[in-house]
Amino acid sequence: MSDAATSQRPRILVTRAVFPEVVAKLERHFEVESNPDDADWSRDELIARLQGRQGAFTTGSVKVDEALLAACPDLRICANMAVGYNNFDIDAMTRHGVVATNTPDVLTETTADFGFALLMATARRLTESEHYLRRGEWKKWSYDMFAGADIHGATLGILGMGRIGQGIARRGALGFGMKVIYHNRSRLPADVEAELGARYVGKDELLAQADHLVLVLPYSASSHHAIGAAELARMKPTATLVNLARGGIVDDAALAEALRARTIAAAGLDVFEGEPSVHPALLTVPNVVLTPHIASASIPTRRAMADLAADNLISFLEGRGALTPVQPNPSPADTGAAR
Ligand code: DGY
Repeated sequence: MSDAATSQRPRILVTRAVFPEVVAKLERHFEVESNPDDADWSRDELIARLQGRQGAFTTGSVKVDEALLAACPDLRICANMAVGYNNFDIDAMTRHGVVATNTPDVLTETTADFGFALLMATARRLTESEHYLRRGEWKKWSYDMFAGADIHGATLGILGMGRIGQGIARRGALGFGMKVIYHNRSRLPADVEAELGARYVGKDELLAQADHLVLVLPYSASSHHAIGAAELARMKPTATLVNLARGGIVDDAALAEALRARTIAAAGLDVFEGEPSVHPALLTVPNVVLTPHIASASIPTRRAMADLAADNLISFLEGRGALTPVQPNPSPADTGAAR
């Protein structure tokens, strides 16, 4: 390719380390600056590196807000390698004419698998018992040693019934004969409820009836601390809580206290308020299973997420429109290439 053609190619920033093959694909289309060592760039460094760039490949840890957008006037698209996009200020992006994309669908089944793994590990006290064995404390069998709650036949409550919630409902109903109840902003069509064997209930009934409550709702100002002290107090003392969604949906301090006081039996958490920091009280209670935000982390799924984020950049910046835009109806003609 001639120097002239090369210099006309859109310029993008890959803000975090990602599969080299995906970076190589991007390099076939764009002038790319990548971050193979996964350096922790400060905000100022990030903004400096975004100067003159039309696209950014981001992950959930990269905050795109009014201040960044105002400082990066060439930016046309941010492609998040995540289905969640609470790191984006969507209103500000829309005001600045910047398209936001995410990675729906490709991670649904993998994340639902992990939700079930976390639910089972929590209810059946898997990590607590493994730590006991590793500490060399297992000297003899006893009738109630690490006895937990059953999954099969229990009532599975789901808060947030999007694609991942439905995947978990399907696993519970079809695989484990669970009774599924759910609460969501909008009720599912009757045929989908029937296929999932799921019954819509109010939030208070969900809290009171669930033996196992799984959170899969998106984070927003309105879902901040959707599960706090009052909600935990409505749950059964034998109940387990699983948070697969986002930190901030659960009040982690209130949860740690409920676990310490055993007003609920156990929790499984893949996400935390202020992660990667974890509320110190959660680290001191035994009845919690803690994982570092890995629900979508199977190798094929992470690769599919990275490919979809890259394909969004390619399609948009080459004038064909974003593949999975977050904002409604971004114009395919409104491309970085066209500006
Ligand atoms: C997502 O896709 O939103 C997961 O939480 C990974 O960030």
